[in-house]
Amino acid sequence: MIKMATKDLTAGMVTAAPVYSKTGQRLFDANTMLTSQKISYLEFYGVEWVQVLPEAEIEEPEIPDAPEPDSSQAPKPAADTVSYSQKVKRSKNFHIFKVDYSKKTKMLEDSFSHLIDKSQPFEPDALLEQISSLYSNHLTSLSVFDMLHNMRQIDDTTYAHCINVAIICRMMGKWLELPESDLEVLTLAGLLHDIGKCRVDPKILTKPGTLTPEEYRHIQRHPALGAEILADYPLDGRVRSAVLMHHERCDGSGYPSGLHKDDISEFAKIVAIADVYDAMTSNRCYRKGICPFEVIATFERIGFEKYESKYLLPFLTHIIDTYLGNTVLLNDGSSGKVIMVNTQFLSRPVVSTEQHEYLDLSKHPELYIQAII
Ligand SMILES: [Fe+2]
Ligand SMILES: [Fe+2]
Repeated sequence: MIKMATKDLTAGMVTAAPVYSKTGQRLFDANTMLTSQKISYLEFYGVEWVQVLPEAEIEEPEIPDAPEPDSSQAPKPAADTVSYSQKVKRSKNFHIFKVDYSKKTKMLEDSFSHLIDKSQPFEPDALLEQISSLYSNHLTSLSVFDMLHNMRQIDDTTYAHCINVAIICRMMGKWLELPESDLEVLTLAGLLHDIGKCRVDPKILTKPGTLTPEEYRHIQRHPALGAEILADYPLDGRVRSAVLMHHERCDGSGYPSGLHKDDISEFAKIVAIADVYDAMTSNRCYRKGICPFEVIATFERIGFEKYESKYLLPFLTHIIDTYLGNTVLLNDGSSGKVIMVNTQFLSRPVVSTEQHEYLDLSKHPELYIQAII
């Protein structure tokens, strides 16, 4: 068995042990032959190290049917996204947001420790009130997503992630036209979903490199630990079930119980989408930034078996809608403006080119959106 950095992997190598994402999701089984697409997939999920078999031990490895992005959509470093990101970071709105966000992550850290040591009575409304300024200060959907993406490049803690997931959940709830009372419950579910990570050994959570199977098992306990922390508090049951089930997947591939679609609570299914979206767009040291169209493409490839489509489809459609009218860079170096969304193929909208021609990306598999500029 050889420990290999993901950046040094080459097609044809075979995994010697199951490969997990940082949140403990199983990406590939042992004995999986790596292809360039699978390596991109590992990079996309921020996997830094993989155990591979020495060449002499490779016999006839199986290539499972695990979903993966195809080569035309495989995530690639988007070198130019930084310019769009810089525009956002220089804005006055971002500066105001950043100051408020930093204050709120610190407050959430304190609130979580009070919840864990039961030193203060739990007041859900007060907890929600703490973060409400982050989504109620007249920001458009696009602004909120831009702020969140850029903040995550600055603050990568569990608290920042929980705040992001809460805000994304709230936006999803609005898009799904949930009543205000449900919006509050859903936002709270997002805010508390990873509270169990506070009971996971921080050395494991931040450990660089490959985790041992024992360490993965430890991380995978965080949903149950979270539910345990909240067990004694008078809370809407949908919050507790979302905390417990947010890593379950509709195809039964999740944890801790391997539940299938019908057995997973509705709010857990929504939190799961917000959670993975934030993980995909969070800071990665080897990437300057990420293009939302890459994320959509990945969801299109792997999402619909694992996530509830009645929540995933409106979510992706609304995200794409927020980028209508934006100028994008294509992988052939040309640029254009997104003018129409293709609901059958969300990552491939119609783009108006510099020559004022309409380019339907769904009919050009060789092209994809590399960055928003
Ligand atoms: Fe989690
Ligand atoms: Fe999470």
